[in-house]
Amino acid sequence: MSLLQDKTIALGIGAGVAAYRACDLIRELDRQGVHRVLPLLGTGAEQFMAPLTLEALTGVPVWQSVLQTPLWHPEALKPLATPAHVLIAQQADALVILPATANLIAKLANGLADCPVSLAATTMTSKPIILMPAMNTRMWENPAVQRNLATLAAQPNLQIISPTEGLLSCGETGTGHLAPQAWLFQALYRALSPLVGKLKGQTWVVTAGGTQEPLDAVRVLTNRSSGQMGLAMADALDAAGATVTLITSQSPKPERFYTIQPYQTTHALEACLMPAFEASDGLVMAAAVADFRLSSAIEGKFKKQDRAQWDLSLTPTPDLLMACSAKKKPHQFIMGFAAETHSQLHENAAKKLAQKQLDALFANAIDVEGNGFEATNNAGLLLLKGKPVITLQQQPKAALAHQILQAIVETLPA
Ligand code: CTP
Repeated sequence: MSLLQDKTIALGIGAGVAAYRACDLIRELDRQGVHRVLPLLGTGAEQFMAPLTLEALTGVPVWQSVLQTPLWHPEALKPLATPAHVLIAQQADALVILPATANLIAKLANGLADCPVSLAATTMTSKPIILMPAMNTRMWENPAVQRNLATLAAQPNLQIISPTEGLLSCGETGTGHLAPQAWLFQALYRALSPLVGKLKGQTWVVTAGGTQEPLDAVRVLTNRSSGQMGLAMADALDAAGATVTLITSQSPKPERFYTIQPYQTTHALEACLMPAFEASDGLVMAAAVADFRLSSAIEGKFKKQDRAQWDLSLTPTPDLLMACSAKKKPHQFIMGFAAETHSQLHENAAKKLAQKQLDALFANAIDVEGNGFEATNNAGLLLLKGKPVITLQQQPKAALAHQILQAIVETLPA
């Protein structure tokens, strides 16, 4: 289940070329289980996005003039219907404005309410508002626009997702390109997570993916970890307000806006992990780390005609989780993962929790249909030091990560 399941999102569209990106956004909101998207058009936005397209995609009448109230609700049919902007403030869980034009930004910064988007934004004082600005670089850099953005940035319920550098519709290249859709979703998760703000001010490190130990210049010794469970944990921590560093062998798609450090070998993972752990409040060690590497590296490529067979001599790698536990400070929280076969899942997990001196361990059975490596779903046992074991049912890794984090947060000192 996505964090957006059953939510109502008001989508305010500004009069800019990037308005066309609203269509894909509505589709993605739909895929993530959003109950309803309420489409609103700012002044002149109908020139960039046809109301009919929005109606077809959302199944909801578009609100395009302050003088006309859309029939969103049976209430609206009554003579004294709730005005649309009040209805939005009551019913929508968040308002997304895309593109947030210089004009809309100026209106919001000054409390003007003369179009459906600015009217809704002015009324939504206690619900999250996310602005996705997009405009020409000169406009973006204009001191008046920056001053208005600074005013809005001080509004606690408002997040601004700054545009990136790229090719603009005017043919110029510069800052003003609408930020990636994934960043908007991260901002929505941050705004709507049930753990919102719980880990604010904390720094967490997550490792994900699998190590690759070189056998020669071409071949590697690796494992089947896709990095999805670690990525889901990093997303959940980010949504709960933590500052996240994700150390991963797989670059996340779509990209994220927390810190990402890549690694391939156990040695490289160790080099990133140890200093990051030292400065952290918590570690989630989801990486599948090689237990062995080649005793002596082969230079160049191993040629089959040179030898009749290839006997590999392997040397143990250090246990990175144990190395972190040995350096753990009292305030730090350490969680491990264990992929096991079904038999003795609990016994093996309890042994690892104790041996590695962990605060938590999630163990999953890789021989259960639809679970674990490369799968989008996972299920397993969550062991929290000194607490009863929690059984987590099979579900998408993103939802599972939120459940795991919820249980962890409950054990942390307030
Ligand atoms: N781990 C680690 N360094 C290693 C091996 C494992 O930090 N060299 C961590 C993993 O990231 C995971 C936890 O230890 O969080 C358990 O890993 P797992 O592979 O299940 O256990 P091992 O200790 O390697 O034991 P075994 O493979 O024999 O089950």
